[in-house]
Parts: sequence; C-alpha cells; structure tokens
Amino acid sequence: MNVKDLLCLKNKVILVTGGSGNYGKCIVEGLAEADATVITTSRDIASAQKNADYFRQMGLDVHAMQADQGERESVKILKAQILEKFGRLDGFVNNAVSRPMKGYNAPIEQFEESMQVNATGMMDLLREMTDLIVQSGGGSVINIASMMGMFGPDLSNYEGTRNMGDLPPDYFFHNAGLINLNRYMVQMNAGKNIRFNCISPGGLFNNQPEAFLNNYYKKVPLRRMANQDDIKGLVVLLSSDAGAYINGENILMDGGLNA
Ligand SMILES: NC(=O)c1ccc[n+]([C@@H]2O[C@H](COP(=O)([O-])OP(=O)(O)OC[C@H]3O[C@@H](n4cnc5c(N)ncnc54)[C@H](O)[C@@H]3O)[C@@H](O)[C@H]2O)c1
Repeated sequence: MNVKDLLCLKNKVILVTGGSGNYGKCIVEGLAEADATVITTSRDIASAQKNADYFRQMGLDVHAMQADQGERESVKILKAQILEKFGRLDGFVNNAVSRPMKGYNAPIEQFEESMQVNATGMMDLLREMTDLIVQSGGGSVINIASMMGMFGPDLSNYEGTRNMGDLPPDYFFHNAGLINLNRYMVQMNAGKNIRFNCISPGGLFNNQPEAFLNNYYKKVPLRRMANQDDIKGLVVLLSSDAGAYINGENILMDGGLNA
C-alpha cells in the first residue's frame, strides 16, 4: 500500500480529550489535517465548541463534546454520545490533564484531587474508550504521558527564574504510572486488534521566562523547546495504518534532551 494511503486517517473517528489545551490543540489539528473525524472534549462545552469551530473554519472535520474525566457519569454520557453520533470509535488520544497541585508542600488534598482526575477518572475513561474501539473492530490508543514520568526533575533548569522549580509530585507520579499502564493495556487486550502507545513529550514552548529558556536550550541538542508541529506527525503515525505494528511503545519526544 502507498505510504500516503497508510498515513491517511479518512473515515477514522478519533477522540482527543483536553483538545483545547496546549498540546491538545496541536493533536486535534494534526489528526484532522490527516483527514480524521476528530472529537475534541473539554469540561466546558462552550470551550470545546469554540475549539471545534476554529478548526471547522479551516475546513477540518472537528466536533465538540463535553466531558469531565473526574466524573463517572460524564464518562458514561460521552461514550453514549459518541455511539449515538458516530456509531463507532477508531482512536483515542488520552491527553487531558488536571494540575491542581502547585508544589511539593501543596495540601495533600490537592494530590487526592489530582488522582481523582489523572488516575481514577483517567482509568475509567481509558477502559470505556478501549471497549468502544474494540466494539468498533479495533484501532489505536495514544496515551500522552511526559518525560517527567520517566526522569526526576532537573532543578538546574529553573536557576535564575522566579516562581518556577517547585514541581508538583502528582505529575511525576501519574505520568510514570501511565507509562506502565500502557503496557498493561496491551497485554490485557491482546488479540482484540487494538494498539496502545505512549508519547512522553518534553516541554512545549509557551513563552516561558527567558532564564528558564536559556537554561533549557543549553541542554537540548536541538536548542529549542517543542513547537506546535512537533507532535502532529507522531500522533498521525500512531493512529494510522502506517503504525499498524507499533504497539506497547513509549516514545520520548524531547529533542534529545535526555539522550
Ligand atoms: N505542555 C507541556 O509542555 C507538556 C510536556 C510534557 C507532557 N505534556 C502532556 O501533554 C498533555 C497535555 O498537556 P498540556 O500542557 O497541553 O495541558 P493543558 O493544561 O494545556 O491542557 C490540559 C487540558 O485538560 C483539560 N482538563 C483538565 N481537567 C479535566 C477534567 N477533569 N476533565 C476533562 N478535561 C480536563 C483542561 O481543561 C485542558 O484543556 C498532558 O498529558 C501532559 O502531561 C505536556
């Protein structure tokens, strides 16, 4: 088969949670540009709709749905709405993240709040969407983790900055867990024509303070942070038939920072 056809996502319905967020927008755009029908979710339907409208104006097939990953009922409703509107699901990019905890000494209740969304709710959603993809005949799940789920914090990146560097423990904990949960999902769903892969990105450029950028750039062999295009090709590859034999991987996308 021609490689352009293998990479094409036409007729595939793919869900992206947190599609209005920083990496989420890039992921929605990349999948839709490869001709997928993309469902973008937010807790706030107005925000999801605004995001979908932005991409629809560009001629891309993007649809909005409301979903709160921390709420059992909301996950059930999302599943029912996808079935009702599209009758199938071929791909899921598990991208949403809640960041209630602001540092090492933040109240432990905020750790619990984080786990409700990033661990318990995330597992609920992952299992339900896996079920829907299997019912649809198979497909691809991409779990967006982080390089912070693979390595400890490099505090020297924050030297000379103000209010940066007090990194929250929940983020390291749930991202590390997700990377191994991805392998668990592969084995538990063997024989069902569904693939699970993780992407562990490095930092996305977001107008961070100059002192941070200078520290960071010195360590990245590519001398920059990730940009809006960097994750697009990888999510298309993993969602498409071009990635049909890639399963159970965790791909570190960090510009060589940890090489
Ligand atoms: N931005 C980075 O530099 C970076 C680096 C490495 C990994 N990541 C990973 O990329 C993914 C996206 O991160 P981001 O930086 O784009 O985050 P972001 O904060 O910009 O977006 C996260 C999205 O998740 C949504 N969300 C929060 N709580 C939710 C809930 N209860 N239910 C449903 N949605 C909820 C938010 O509304 C938001 O749209 C995450 O998995 C994160 O770990 C990001």
